[in-house]
Amino acid sequence: MRYLVTGVTGQLGAEVAAKLLARGETVFGSGRKQEAPKELVAQPGFTYLAFDLADDTAVKTAFGAALPDAVIHCASWTAVDEAEKEENRDLVTKINAGSTRLLAGLCASHGAKLLYISTDYVFGGTGEKPYGADSEDFDPLNVYGATKLEGERAVRETLAEHFVVRVSWTFGKYGDNFVEKMLRVAQGRQEVSVVDDQFGTPTYTSDAASVICDIAESSEYGTYNLAASGGFVSRAGFAREIFRAAGSDVRVVPVKTADFKSPARRPLNSRFDCSKLGRHGFGPLPEWKDGLARYLAERKES
Ligand SMILES: NC(=O)c1ccc[n+]([C@@H]2O[C@H](COP(=O)([O-])OP(=O)(O)OC[C@H]3O[C@@H](n4cnc5c(N)ncnc54)[C@H](OP(=O)(O)O)[C@@H]3O)[C@@H](O)[C@H]2O)c1
Repeated sequence: MRYLVTGVTGQLGAEVAAKLLARGETVFGSGRKQEAPKELVAQPGFTYLAFDLADDTAVKTAFGAALPDAVIHCASWTAVDEAEKEENRDLVTKINAGSTRLLAGLCASHGAKLLYISTDYVFGGTGEKPYGADSEDFDPLNVYGATKLEGERAVRETLAEHFVVRVSWTFGKYGDNFVEKMLRVAQGRQEVSVVDDQFGTPTYTSDAASVICDIAESSEYGTYNLAASGGFVSRAGFAREIFRAAGSDVRVVPVKTADFKSPARRPLNSRFDCSKLGRHGFGPLPEWKDGLARYLAERKES
């Protein structure tokens, strides 16, 4: 099959493209940067298309060049705090919602499948109950979450048969992430403060990408929540495991989200109920501690 994977210069898109190439698929990968990751460029079957999702003509031209059987739309404005700035709001909406609607329309007219990557931030994160894949308890707390929800709605309104796959708390070798941030801030320090009231499941992008490709290959249309196995953990608990697994004795001081001043509000409850995946024959993903250990080992080697 021919795939168009958007966001291959980002953390998740690069992994998705790599998995598809390993399966022998033809992949057109896109990003805004002039160059794609060298690991992808080196592989047969890969073509890089550099364009800005804010430019409708460029999106249509790229789609025409790729003529994909399926689009996996990973690209997104992901700078959550920057999205709150008044001067950025139109652009964030254009990229997260507008370009998604355009891609969905192109898929509809060309008979291509669409898998849209969304986020736990479409929910408000109250309570402790895990959100089900088909929960409509939407209540985004920030601009990023609201525009990703608009993206979800654009996909549902435009294509009767579609995939929406929500991920959260991802880490992987192609981008900056919470693991890197923790290892960075801990350098030369004996303790770091980390919030202990945000809960979720850290997920290795390599594991997520495999299941995303399985879903895109299938005809099991619908919305899925995708996270690693192994239960839920707070950000502080995740940080403790990062330091333990990395052999560091840095101490984690638990603090509250309310004590951290940031432009965007963030949900406290990012727990996903991923059982729908199993009911449709996907997953389960390996446990998050296992994913973290593999990530740290790979990181050491590179
Ligand atoms: N990371 C997480 O924990 C997390 C959590 C929940 C959901 N998600 C979702 O997962 C998906 C992938 O996120 P990620 O972690 O891979 O993010 P990322 O590393 O920040 O990558 C974002 C990608 O989007 C591309 N992009 C952004 N603006 C663009 C534009 N105007 N035109 C063209 N491309 C543009 C970037 O291209 P350039 O780099 O070339 O600019 C990059 O390839 C997103 O849909 C995100 O909402 C992520």
